[in-house]
Amino acid sequence: MTTSIKQENIVTIESLDQEGRGVAHHEGKVIFIDGALTGERVTYSSYRKKASFELAKVDKILKQSYMRVQPKCVHFDVCGGCSMQHLDARAQVAVKQRILEDNLQRIGKVKPERILPPIYGETWGYRQRARLSVRHVLKKERTLVGFHEKSSRYVADMQHCEILPPKIASLLPLLGKMNESLSIRDHLPQIELAVGEHVDALVLRIMQPLSAADEEIIKRFADEHQVQFWLQTKGPDTVVPFYPLDAPALSYSMPEFGITMPYSPIDFTQVNSTLNRLMLSRAMRLLSPQAGERIADFFCGLGNFTLPIARSGAQVMGVEGSATLVKRAAQNAAFNGLAVNTSFGAMNLFEMTENALAKLGHFDKWLIDPPRDGAMELIKSLGEDAPWRIVYVSCNPSTLARDADVLVNEKGYVIKAAGVMNMFPHTSHVESIALFEKI
Ligand SMILES: C[S@@+](CC[C@H](N)C(=O)[O-])C[C@H]1O[C@@H](n2cnc3c(N)ncnc32)[C@H](O)[C@@H]1O
Repeated sequence: MTTSIKQENIVTIESLDQEGRGVAHHEGKVIFIDGALTGERVTYSSYRKKASFELAKVDKILKQSYMRVQPKCVHFDVCGGCSMQHLDARAQVAVKQRILEDNLQRIGKVKPERILPPIYGETWGYRQRARLSVRHVLKKERTLVGFHEKSSRYVADMQHCEILPPKIASLLPLLGKMNESLSIRDHLPQIELAVGEHVDALVLRIMQPLSAADEEIIKRFADEHQVQFWLQTKGPDTVVPFYPLDAPALSYSMPEFGITMPYSPIDFTQVNSTLNRLMLSRAMRLLSPQAGERIADFFCGLGNFTLPIARSGAQVMGVEGSATLVKRAAQNAAFNGLAVNTSFGAMNLFEMTENALAKLGHFDKWLIDPPRDGAMELIKSLGEDAPWRIVYVSCNPSTLARDADVLVNEKGYVIKAAGVMNMFPHTSHVESIALFEKI
């Protein structure tokens, strides 16, 4: 130990938490340390101190993990878009798998009969959906376009991004330059990105009307860089295409099921289309939908799972909270010739009751894909006439585990299998899938 390092600030990292931070203990407190990896010995400085825990940053790494790699992105230390680029990509997946298994055991008190092999895809340039912040910074005399800085409201000064598709990543500084020349440069706080198979859509959130000169600048940018701009003046219903109006429709496809999904750039769609295809394959293998069955797809969005299920010949009911997405799902079913064996309904599934569920009729199987809060009310509403198989797709292992507890320990299901899907490489998000069957 060198004399400059205070003994009390040296810790060994025991594990990574759900945010990808190193976890250590020191003098009865838990220390969460940004940038530290399991097994490393580090010194740290705390930026928040509470009675039972501290949040800290690594100062020095005294013993380095062999899983540590050089982050590919030069902005990694500052930008909040990624939190795990310093950990080998395969080790990231192992960490996520451990988090899933720990949650199932600790919160759910359940153990899957089988751990599914993780699903991997491209680790760079994968992110086809993103909400980018825009800020004109007077001190820099420049507009910044990008993700927020780590734990801060400031927009990161990023010239490039390794997780956005390369074309879009290269446009970040140019979008900043475009904004600098607009009359409303201080009133355009956000650009929402949706990269489709035939068009790249950028939704400009504008708080003041564009001048005629602004419109020309934006049109020139669209022509030069082959993107389509959309405008959003207020809430989500105000999103309209701006230029070019004859661009191809935004869509993604699922060749395995012969399905094409048109969508609007602010509709919920999975951020990583390669992983989405792999996830759909796995979900369909686990669900194994058959002609003659009646299946529910809860939290169906625009029909991402509903339509592949319907392709099997099963009757599927998609239920979803957003009336806009329900309408889109019905249109997409018709577009793909699947209207006859699909039906859709808008419903707040967080307020489900046993009675309301019974009114939807008998289902042989369920697929559920809830938001981070999980599907507690829906699962608590399962009565006598419950489906014998449930495939649960989750973006939050702690709510999956909480719901698995009820399914297994109260409702008489077994957890046959569970596994992670690396939908968001280099971030700490854990996407997972689990199969439950009635005993
Ligand atoms: C993780 S997304 C899944 C969407 C779809 N399964 C897909 O793969 O694209 C969760 C969906 O739940 C919907 N949702 C959120 N809260 C809801 C609620 N309280 N009731 C019903 N649906 C809700 C969202 O609109 C969103 O479409």
